[in-house]
Amino acid sequence: MKFFIDTAEVEEIKNAVEFGIIDGVTTNPSLIAKSGRKFEDVINEIVKIVDGPISGEIKATTTNCDDIIKEAEEISKINKNMVVKIPMTPDGIKAINVLSKKNIKTNVTLIFTATQALIAAKAGATYVSPFIGRLDDISTRGMELIEEIATIFRNYDFKTEIIAASIRNPLHVVDCAMLGADIATIPYKVLMQLMSHPLTDIGIEKFKKDYLNSNK
Ligand code: G3P
Repeated sequence: MKFFIDTAEVEEIKNAVEFGIIDGVTTNPSLIAKSGRKFEDVINEIVKIVDGPISGEIKATTTNCDDIIKEAEEISKINKNMVVKIPMTPDGIKAINVLSKKNIKTNVTLIFTATQALIAAKAGATYVSPFIGRLDDISTRGMELIEEIATIFRNYDFKTEIIAASIRNPLHVVDCAMLGADIATIPYKVLMQLMSHPLTDIGIEKFKKDYLNSNK
C-alpha cells in the first residue's frame, strides 16, 4: 500500500518525508488556498522534496474540455512526476480520454460513486480519488465505496489505481488497507496519529523510570 500526503504545506511534506514512508503528494484548490501561497510556488517546492506522483489540480474555474486539456498539458510540463487532478465531470472525462492517449497522468477527483470510478477508469485515468470522509459526513459509508471500486477494478483488471481520499482518522487507513485501496492520501495530522498509542507512551515512561531506578 502506498501512502501519499494530502497537503500543500511544504513543511509538513518535509517532515513526513523524513519517515521514509511517503510515496507521493496530493493537493487541491482548498489546500493551496489554505497555504496562502500560489499554486506554482507550492508545486515547484514539492517536486524538489518528493520523487513520486504529485497531484496538482486544474484551476477550479477551468471547466470546459479544451481548456482542461490545455491546462493539464501545462501542469504536466512542470515535472515528470506531475499528475493532473481533474474533477469528475463529463468534460473532465472527455479530457482524460485525450490526455491518457498523450501519456499525461491524471487523477479524477471528487468521486462519490462506483459508476463515476468505472467511467474514469474506462476513459484511461491513472488514478481515481473516492472521498471517504465527505460520504461519512452525510451518513453514507465511504468505505463501501472503496470496496465496490476495488472489486470492480479487480474483476476487469483495470490499471487505474484507487487513491482513498478525504481520510479523517487512522481507522480509515486501516479499513482502506483491508479492502485493498492502492493508495491512501493522508493529512499530516492523521499520519502522526498512525504512529502513536497511549500505551506506547505509558510503556516508554515505565521503561525509563525502571531503567533510571536500576542504574542509580
Ligand atoms: O485531496 C482531497 C481530499 O483528501 C479532501 O479531503 O477532508 O477536504 O474532505 P477533505
